[in-house]
Amino acid sequence: MTPLLSLAGMTKRFGGLPAVDRVDLDVPEGQILAVIGPNGAGKTTLLSLVAGALTPTACRRFTLAGQDLRGLPVHRIRRAGVGTLRQTPTRFLSMTVREDVAIGARFGGRVPLGHGQALAAADRAVTEAGLAARSDDPVTSLTLHQARLLGLARALAGDPKLLLLDEPLAGLTSGELEEALAVLRRLRDERGVTIVWVEHVMPAVDALADRVVVMDVGRILADGAPASVRRDPAVIAAYLGAPDAGASAAGGDAPGREDGGQGRPEGGSRAAGT
Ligand SMILES: Nc1ncnc2c1ncn2[C@@H]1O[C@H](COP(=O)(O)OP(=O)(O)O)[C@@H](O)[C@H]1O
Ligand SMILES: [Mg+2]
Repeated sequence: MTPLLSLAGMTKRFGGLPAVDRVDLDVPEGQILAVIGPNGAGKTTLLSLVAGALTPTACRRFTLAGQDLRGLPVHRIRRAGVGTLRQTPTRFLSMTVREDVAIGARFGGRVPLGHGQALAAADRAVTEAGLAARSDDPVTSLTLHQARLLGLARALAGDPKLLLLDEPLAGLTSGELEEALAVLRRLRDERGVTIVWVEHVMPAVDALADRVVVMDVGRILADGAPASVRRDPAVIAAYLGAPDAGASAAGGDAPGREDGGQGRPEGGSRAAGT
């Protein structure tokens, strides 16, 4: 079967240095793929390439459901079915959650919608993102967690085939984290959306990811089920080799498993998420 997303030779260099280096990756439809790796590994750059926000330096294949997306601008890639959740979504002042999502749905999705259709798409997306109770509240009244859910609702209103998430759980309390995980699980089970998900919170990856890809210096270092990837000697070495990769990776166990739910494989740095 044709994978939903297929990349071959995907490369991005900044000033000669590769941030993403000849990445080959196939993601089947319906899969939740977690991308992990130390800071600077190239995870965010990879997502930006798939979203069309960055132009690759080289790329042999970039297809979504068989459609060649190479060279397309970001809005055409979005229309092809790639939805992105930004870490801190901008909020338009003086709008309600429902209005905010509807505006995005009108022109930001796979097809342009009329006003009524956009509101219907917004209501569905707001519910799917777990924000139905806040639908008529001003967006400025949302917490960080709810603002992320708003970003998710915006992406869902465009009816994406593929959803790109860059550290959606960073900075959440454990209660919020459980709630966000439940939302993502429901999306997979009920909508069948395919997700490429950059994440540092390892227990969350274990709980939800079907598959884990580990990146280091722009390359894919390991690829497999969460438990087997964490035991991979190359993965353990990459984390131990990272500066400041202290106690959490030491002992050859799972990267980032020893801090009770907020695991950050790079050893506690808060600099991620750019
Ligand atoms: N816009 C940019 N200009 C120059 N270098 C960049 C830019 N974006 C990322 N990089 C570099 O590319 C590498 C990968 O960064 P990034 O994709 O953000 O890593 P990660 O998300 O895994 O932490 C890093 O060395 C980073 O400094
Ligand atoms: Mg990043």
